[in-house]
Amino acid sequence: MELIMFIVMLLVLVLVVLLVLLRTNKASPKEMEVIPGTLGWPIIGESLSFISEFSSPAGIYSFINKRQQLYGKVFKSYVLGRYTVFMTGREASKILLTGKDGIVSLNLFYTGQQVLGPTSLLQQTGEAHKRLRRLIAEPLSVDGLKKYFQFINSLAIETLDQWSGRKILVLEETSTFTLKVIGNMIMSLEPTGEEQEKFRTNFKIISGSFASLPFKVPGTAFYRGIQARDRMYAMLDSIIDQRRSGETIKQDFLQSLVKKHGKDAPEGDDDDKLTDKQLKDNILTLLVAGHDTTTAALTWLLKFLQENPAVLERLREEHREIQARKQGTSDLTWSEVNNMPYTAKVINETLRMATILPWFSRKAAQDFEIEGCKIKKGWSLNLDVVSIHRDPKIFPNPEKFDPCRFDDPLKPFSFLGFGSGPRMCPGINLAKLEISVFLHHLVCRYKWTPLDTDDSVQPTLVRMLKNKYPVMVETL
Ligand code: HEM
Ligand SMILES: *[C@@H]1O[C@H](CO)[C@@H](O)[C@H](O)[C@H]1NC(C)=O
Repeated sequence: MELIMFIVMLLVLVLVVLLVLLRTNKASPKEMEVIPGTLGWPIIGESLSFISEFSSPAGIYSFINKRQQLYGKVFKSYVLGRYTVFMTGREASKILLTGKDGIVSLNLFYTGQQVLGPTSLLQQTGEAHKRLRRLIAEPLSVDGLKKYFQFINSLAIETLDQWSGRKILVLEETSTFTLKVIGNMIMSLEPTGEEQEKFRTNFKIISGSFASLPFKVPGTAFYRGIQARDRMYAMLDSIIDQRRSGETIKQDFLQSLVKKHGKDAPEGDDDDKLTDKQLKDNILTLLVAGHDTTTAALTWLLKFLQENPAVLERLREEHREIQARKQGTSDLTWSEVNNMPYTAKVINETLRMATILPWFSRKAAQDFEIEGCKIKKGWSLNLDVVSIHRDPKIFPNPEKFDPCRFDDPLKPFSFLGFGSGPRMCPGINLAKLEISVFLHHLVCRYKWTPLDTDDSVQPTLVRMLKNKYPVMVETL
């Protein structure tokens, strides 16, 4: 009991300091009076129930749901040092996600902003944002990804070879897998060895600092995050130098960017060139945005498949047919990966059920109105995606895992697993490629049984199972 009191007091203290530090918040309770909802306790607001519901199996869904029952689709709250308006529904998502007329921008936490750097595409808006999106579009397009297919395929086979007859933590295994993929894509990092270890260690520290408290003093997660970021940038600098000098020539992301941008990019439209700093900020952005999400997706997939044997069986059929067509001799091919219709639906249904990013955060860039509520410039707005994914009007019997709901095309702004509009996930093809290849080898070779049934999720932005989903793997 004393410990709980102590933790609560500590939280209160921390939140007071947060408040003082984060003076960026323009909204005030007075202006928000017209919006339904409560701002909770002084200073801490509703942070405590927010944090505690966050890690329950339903995640923040229960926090939001309770308030929606009371106040309606749009309500205010005060959580984690921010006055926030929560909203849901297709109308709200259309307005927030298309961001027409520049009415919203992305709203990162202070620590995230500091770690990622100001030129990250997550912190850019309008034309500058569009330009960065264009630059990463080509290497992340279906065609651009073809050259990484062999690597991903061999790595999936190798990773799964080690699963036979073992107890594993799925989340850790998939995390290693996805990090090796992206490390190879970006800078041709070998899947094992000292460089990979350095990369991995630094990345974990950076990622852990993201939702940390904004104290930049030695010993804090934030401070360690900034340091790890600097080490990661030093690593990128040395690779960029090698590429520039022509010492090494590779077929990766960094090579293609160095050719076009950076210090001695060819003459031409200066507007279309990135500096080294912009380059690094955006490579880190891809790492951060792509890693936990893909890792979580793979982990939820294994869980949902295990809980829905009929779906798993049907998925196996799709993959066995692929194998049968070539009499089990040759490897999986590029055209086969791009033709797995049922798998694609299983992936979408997983993202609907798990809602890996449970809400999208925006900041009002001007005054506007939503569902009859007046929103003021500077307010922090959260689109609650879980309620959209669980809306029985859009997804009948929403608690059922049923990939066939994706047989018919869905209405726009109803499935937001990868978001929508100008900020829709640019990594969608890569994520689907990694997941499809991994699933192919997994379902053809193995079955797995969970060793723990706790459904709690980690209190992080990306929804992941707290227990890392321990399973016993057996060969079929
Ligand atoms: C299954 C895996 C993934 C899921 C579920 C996912 C989901 C999402 C969602 C929902 C958004 C939109 C967020 C918003 O509107 O606020 C987003 C944005 C983004 N994703 Fe993904 N993502 C995945 C994989 C990846 C990968 C592999 C990469 C990179 C290689 C990536 C890079 C990004 C970036 C850079 C953005 C920000 C785009 C912008 O602001 O313009 N994602 N992702
Ligand atoms: C899955 O979702 C993505 C993103 O919304 C969509 O483009 C794609 O068509 C969906 N696939 C299927 C099979 O429903």
